[in-house]
Amino acid sequence: MIKVMNLSKEFPKKDGTVFSAVDDICFEAKDSEIVCLLGVNGAGKTTTMRILSTIFKPSSGTAEIQGYDIQKNAQHVRENLGFLTGDTGLYNRLRGSEFIRYFGRLYGVAEKTIDARIKEMADMLDMHDFLDKKIEFMSTGMKQKVSIVRSIIHDPPVMIFDEPTSGLDILTARNIVSFIRECKQRGKCVLFSTHIMREAERLADRIVMIHKGKILANGTLDELRIVSEQTDLDDIFVYYVNKFTDETEVLAHEF
Ligand SMILES: Nc1ncnc2c1ncn2[C@@H]1O[C@H](COP(=O)(O)OP(=O)(O)OP(=O)(O)O)[C@@H](O)[C@H]1O
Ligand SMILES: [Mg+2]
Repeated sequence: MIKVMNLSKEFPKKDGTVFSAVDDICFEAKDSEIVCLLGVNGAGKTTTMRILSTIFKPSSGTAEIQGYDIQKNAQHVRENLGFLTGDTGLYNRLRGSEFIRYFGRLYGVAEKTIDARIKEMADMLDMHDFLDKKIEFMSTGMKQKVSIVRSIIHDPPVMIFDEPTSGLDILTARNIVSFIRECKQRGKCVLFSTHIMREAERLADRIVMIHKGKILANGTLDELRIVSEQTDLDDIFVYYVNKFTDETEVLAHEF
């Protein structure tokens, strides 16, 4: 499971002040649960996920992955977590299967287990036609599938997917969505990010809305509908953004 506790990340600005990209956020994701981090561009989704995957250190607060603290037990965190992000490099000169195998070995996975996992995930993600193609000749969707398999070749209990269907066609996106559902069926704890409302609606058990580094709302779609008195997730999102903006303005007046 993932437990995020008062996590913040500040970046220094040129004028000597700091910018809060992630501001005191708390949320949880349990085993066999899909949680969506939903927010517009620049909301703080990738920054949050980079902290959880130990790439960035938090400015304050912390988080746990399977009970391991991201700062005190970074090695255990990395073993228990698979992280897919848009800026993971792919080695163009390798074939898809070679690239995945290379990372499997880095994680210390036995050769036979690597073979079995590649076969299983290639079945699920419909990859057999291009698995042995050189990565430089693959399409965007093919590369994304290779990146997904590479990120979870060690079969971690926690999977973090940053915008897993970004830029993909509808069929490829659907294939990845059903793959993520299957991961949940197998007991995995999945956190994924998106700014596409429809995807959050279809895939998430719970939606954590993030805006300007702060959590706006956290609940099931039904819970968010009841509180906002809106049906459509677009309208629910706008409701919470407006509420947040109004509250920030009231606070600014008070000071
Ligand atoms: N290394 C960095 N240094 C300075 N500012 C950063 C850094 N990384 C992110 N930011 C800023 O933090 C904010 C949050 O960025 P982040 O990438 O987390 O957003 P996001 O929700 O993933 O957006 P998108 O949907 O565009 O991917 C942005 O204003 C961004 O410019
Ligand atoms: Mg991002």
